[in-house]
Order: sequence, then structure tokens, then C-alpha cells
Amino acid sequence: MNYKVLVSDPLAEEGIEILRGFCEVDVRTGLSEDQLIKIIGEYDGLLVRSGTQVTESVINAADKLRFVGRAGAGVDNIDLDAATRKGIIVANAPAGNTLAACEHTLAMMASLARNIPQATASVRKGEWKRSAFMGVELNDKVLGIVGFGRIGQELAKRALALEMKVVAYDPYINRERAKELGVEVMTLDELFPVADFITVHTPLIKETKHLINSTTIATMKDGVRIINCARGGIINESDLYDAIVQGKVAGAALDVYEEEPPVASGIISLDQVISTPHLGASTVEAQLNVAVSVAKQCIEVLKGGSAKFV
Ligand code: NAD
Ligand code: MLT
Repeated sequence: MNYKVLVSDPLAEEGIEILRGFCEVDVRTGLSEDQLIKIIGEYDGLLVRSGTQVTESVINAADKLRFVGRAGAGVDNIDLDAATRKGIIVANAPAGNTLAACEHTLAMMASLARNIPQATASVRKGEWKRSAFMGVELNDKVLGIVGFGRIGQELAKRALALEMKVVAYDPYINRERAKELGVEVMTLDELFPVADFITVHTPLIKETKHLINSTTIATMKDGVRIINCARGGIINESDLYDAIVQGKVAGAALDVYEEEPPVASGIISLDQVISTPHLGASTVEAQLNVAVSVAKQCIEVLKGGSAKFV
């Protein structure tokens, strides 16, 4: 049987090579929804990152499709209900980029605390404004982690090594694991008022949409710093903008946005906000891990097996 797989977002070459050993592979990135709908009928497998929107219309046009692989953790760009109705298996690579996203969060937190991007831009302009970039230490500060899954837990270990105090909220928290790590479990109502830094590591679902908004921000410490390297939409950007302008929130570090790229969002223009273009998983190591994982799962499924996280 000659299978055909479409790779519609940039994927590490190692994964594509594994697939090429098994079937025909087309790499076509940057397709519009209409372009994807026109060609998807030819393919047995589709591999994506977060760029391709695998909508109901795409799925409906996918007559031969048996597998959609998401080279990463979040599957919010794939219409899972539509895929399930068509009997298409959707699999992700949930662990391959955990450390990359965790380290990016740490880098964002440290950069936010010490104004590193702003200071870099200032030095580049020929300025030497040492007092304008007074920072704060991470040592002894309270880090509130909302969402204590893979990334949240790895981050907790590293933050504790920096001698931060770590508190966490997760409705499904593993209390034993939190205790072992030295993390205090709290409700959100308890966490918001005590944290100096708040970082979110949840999926974007109904319960987490705009979890950080004007009402919850009002309960936070004055001068809190907020980090989002999970999903845009967990924070209400317009409420965060207002809270920064009013001085309630000292700053924010954002890797993800309600709309990507965040062209219409005012928040990225604020001096107190540092931003990266959804780079959490962008390390050589993570991209290799997730590409190899989805390529192997794709082959397993097309051979008639089931997807397992390989
Ligand atoms: P995970 O599934 O291991 O952890 C998510 C945690 O969120 C779980 O423990 C879950 O119980 C918890 N949760 C669910 N609902 C919640 C709620 N209402 N309040 C608080 N916690 C809740 O996922 P992960 O691998 O740690 O990834 C976390 C997030 O980071 C995901 O949104 C993922 O897509 C995103 N991510 C982003 C990047 C990036 O490039 N920026 C990279 C990797 C992952
Ligand atoms: C993920 O959910 O894994 C991240 O968004 C990273 C990516 O864009 O692949």
C-alpha cells in the first residue's frame, strides 16, 4: 500500500526522514484553509504544529485521512470532535517539549525581573540608563504556578533551586508529588494574593479561558509579575493591559497571545511587557523529540496499529 503524508508546518528533518523510509511525504507549509481543503483528500496522514488549523471543514474534505499528528503538546488547533466523528486518530507528542517550555518560562521570568530585553534595546540605542532598569530578585519571592502538570512541575523544581517559594493550584493536583517537591498546594483564591510571580501552565479550555482577568487581577499582590508561556486566551489581554497601565501589575512576559501574531493587541507595545513569538518549544532538542514522536506514531497507525507516545 502506498501511503501519502502531508507535513503542513515546519517539522524537524529527522522526523520527515523517518516517514520517508515508510511512505511518500509532501512538505507544504503556510497553506491557507482553502488550499488545505483542496489537497487534503489525497493524504492518509497529516502532521502539524500549531500553525495549521485542522478545522471541521478540513476534516470533512479529508476522505482518506486516518491520522493527524500534532508535533507538540496542545491540540487546540485540531477539531477533535470532527476527527472522532470521522474515525481519524489524533495524537500529540506531549512530553517532547516539556523542558524547552519550562526553560523558556524560566528565561522569561528572569528577563522580566531584570528588564533584560528593555535594557538591551536601550544599550543598542547608545543609552546608558542604569537606574531606569532597577530589577527585583527571584530569591525568596513567591512563585504561583497555575496548572501543575508536566511543565508546571519541572518549573517548580528549578524555581526551588533558585530559592523561590513555590505554591501551586491545579484542580487535579497530585498532592503527594507536590509535597515531595516542596510545593505548597493552594486554591486560586489563596494563591493570587500571595504570589510575586504568577505563571500559567494549563491548556486553554472553557474553565481556563480568561482565568486571569480584571476581577482575579484585583485580588493579586500590587506589583505582581505575570507570565504566560502556555496558551493565549488564558489571560484576558485587554484586562492585563489596563492593570499594567494602572500600575497594579508591574510587568508581564508573554510567549502566547489571544491572536497570533498579536497584530491588533496593544499589550506588546507596553514597556513593562516582554514578548516572544510562541518560542516555548523552539529548541533543537524539543523539535527533534516531537517530530520523531509523531512520525513514529503516524507509521504505527497507518500500519494498522495504535498511536503510542514513542
Ligand atoms: P499538562 O497536561 O501536563 O499540564 C496541564 C495541567 O493543567 C494539568 O495538570 C491539568 O490538571 C491542569 N489544569 C487543567 N484545568 C485546570 C484549571 N482549570 N486550572 C488549573 N490547572 C488546570 O500540560 P503541559 O505539557 O504542562 O503544558 C501546559 C500548557 O503549555 C499547554 O497549554 C500546552 O499547550 C502549553 N505549551 C506551550 C508551549 C509553547 O510553545 N509556548 C510549549 C509546550 C506546551
Ligand atoms: C505546544 O503546545 O506544544 C506548543 O504550542 C509548541 C508548538 O507550537 O509546537
